[in-house]
Amino acid sequence: MNLILLGAPGAGKGTQATKIAERYGLVHISTGDIFRANIKNGTEIGLLAKSYTDKGELVPDEVTVAIVKDRLTWPDCEKGYLLDGFPRNLYQAEALDTFAKIDGVVNINIDHKLLMDRLCGRRVCRDCGESYHVSTLNGATKCARCGGELYQRKDDNPETVGARLAVYNEQTAPLIDYYTQKGIIHNFTGTEAPAEVLFEEVKRVLDGLLNTL
Ligand code: AP5
Ligand code: MG
Repeated sequence: MNLILLGAPGAGKGTQATKIAERYGLVHISTGDIFRANIKNGTEIGLLAKSYTDKGELVPDEVTVAIVKDRLTWPDCEKGYLLDGFPRNLYQAEALDTFAKIDGVVNINIDHKLLMDRLCGRRVCRDCGESYHVSTLNGATKCARCGGELYQRKDDNPETVGARLAVYNEQTAPLIDYYTQKGIIHNFTGTEAPAEVLFEEVKRVLDGLLNTL
């Protein structure tokens, strides 16, 4: 089963992705994580990506599409994959259609008023990538799952979050229509807390989808 996770920054894509990938044995491919790893390792792609991610803008399509196209040729993708944060505009969606067969799109809709707080309060584990919100950490600085150090992403500040939301509205939101027309989209409300509640709904729909493949 090959899936796309669609949703605004902070909608909960990464949070659901970990759960979905684990349950269905899919490879979790997050373009944001790929860029952050490259930035950390100081690669050429990382240097280029940093100038865009720091401002909340999209990394150029040719670079992003080439990375995903290559990643999907790795043997582990034969068991199925979950794209998180890709595609992010019409160009990327049309490019993806030329080299991948997508079975379903999980779209997480959310009230945008919630996103600023969710993102500016987010802390992420350096080791396993698990996301937390400061309001539930009670001062903890280590990951409850693996003990790794928690940090705040450089783009999780009010100014950059504002830019990321504008990019989402202009470039990514139109993909909802694109995949609705293809008849492969499944819509969810990401407002429900905790994330486990949303995952129960996602699971019900994906179990059904899996039975049809
Ligand atoms: P990326 O890393 O993809 O960031 P994003 O899309 O802005 O999304 P986030 O990771 O911020 O949010 P999320 O939806 O994963 O939310 P999360 O689960 O963490 O991209 C970063 C940058 O890389 C881009 O700006 C761009 O520059 C570049 N880039 C990436 N892909 C690209 C592409 N295809 N093309 C070009 N450039 C690209 O949850 C957020 C918070 O909410 C957490 O604190 C979490 O604990 C909490 N939370 C989650 N679910 C719930 C819930 N149900 N109830 C309560 N709290 C919840
Ligand atoms: Mg994410």
